[in-house]
Amino acid sequence: MEFTTLGKTGLRVSVMGLGCGGHSRLGLSQGKTEDEAAGVVRAALDLGLNYIDTAEVYGTEGAVGKGIAGVKREDLVISTKKGLKRENGRLSTTSTDLLEGLEASLKRLNTDYIDVYNLHGLHHQDYDYAVTELVPTLQKAREQGKIRHIGVTEAFVQEPRHEMLEKAVKDDFWEVMMVGFNLVNQTARNSVFPQTQAKQIGVQLMFAVRRALKNFETLNEALEELARQGEIDRAEFDSEKPLGFLLEGGKAGSLTEAAYRFCRYEPGVDVVLVGTGSVDHLKANAEALLKPPLPAGDVAKLKQLFARVTDFTGN
Ligand SMILES: NC(=O)c1ccc[n+]([C@@H]2O[C@H](COP(=O)([O-])OP(=O)(O)OC[C@H]3O[C@@H](n4cnc5c(N)ncnc54)[C@H](OP(=O)(O)O)[C@@H]3O)[C@@H](O)[C@H]2O)c1
Repeated sequence: MEFTTLGKTGLRVSVMGLGCGGHSRLGLSQGKTEDEAAGVVRAALDLGLNYIDTAEVYGTEGAVGKGIAGVKREDLVISTKKGLKRENGRLSTTSTDLLEGLEASLKRLNTDYIDVYNLHGLHHQDYDYAVTELVPTLQKAREQGKIRHIGVTEAFVQEPRHEMLEKAVKDDFWEVMMVGFNLVNQTARNSVFPQTQAKQIGVQLMFAVRRALKNFETLNEALEELARQGEIDRAEFDSEKPLGFLLEGGKAGSLTEAAYRFCRYEPGVDVVLVGTGSVDHLKANAEALLKPPLPAGDVAKLKQLFARVTDFTGN
């Protein structure tokens, strides 16, 4: 595995992080038991990963707690999140809810501190409330040593143009941000990454593959939708193997490999999260992320093909 520094946190983190949410939730969504899900966590650690992202709402903190049992705590970087309640169209999570959530996460993870504690899926309409009501509580928890660093994750499905993060990057208290980005929706390149780099905010990336980039069939469905919305020119894509050029001559072994490699080498990205319930996929993705960047010509072509896309997530 290769390592990098997570922005101003100074933490040394593997370039691949284990994402314990998404459609797989370590396989729990496909019927795996918690012990089997813990096995996926152990397999990730065996591959040399030290970065794990989970959340109270995923139902995977318990599996992470089991999977990391016996590992030296200082050898791990754990990110988890407080789920946010919205009522009548606005955020209603209180400081007390936040502290209760934090204590419960510590218990499930069987640890006495969390490296990166995030507000989960904050909407731009709720940003000011979160800053006034919740950020001081996070800062206090950091002073008490219960959390080491303060993070925020965007609600990418609702905000594929990063409206909340565009506000957040102007403030100085966020140490880590989770950003949606993939080879189709590259909007964060202009609206988020220059600012996070300037402020040394660590970036964990989500949605590199999600559903749309899993295979050519799901990609084709997504492209049909994008063409209907006028965001791409369908004639520029092969009808059977859209983006097949990425694989020509063995340049990339699969669409998922190309998708993860594309994200890893985007300037400003620190950790690429990989969500999976499959140890085989985990191994393939670790190999993919350690390969060199895609050829510069292919990256340029992807930028041109998807230049007008703003509302795609791949969900
Ligand atoms: N707002 C938020 O805070 C937020 C929102 C979404 C996600 N996240 C975090 O970001 C992480 C990453 O997002 P994600 O889970 O959607 O991850 P992703 O890595 O973009 O996509 C994962 C999907 O791709 C499949 N996959 C992975 N490797 C594959 C391979 N080699 N071949 C074929 N299919 C493959 C997985 O299915 P298999 O299980 O079959 O491998 C899974 O369905 C989440 O796990 C979570 O930790 C945070």
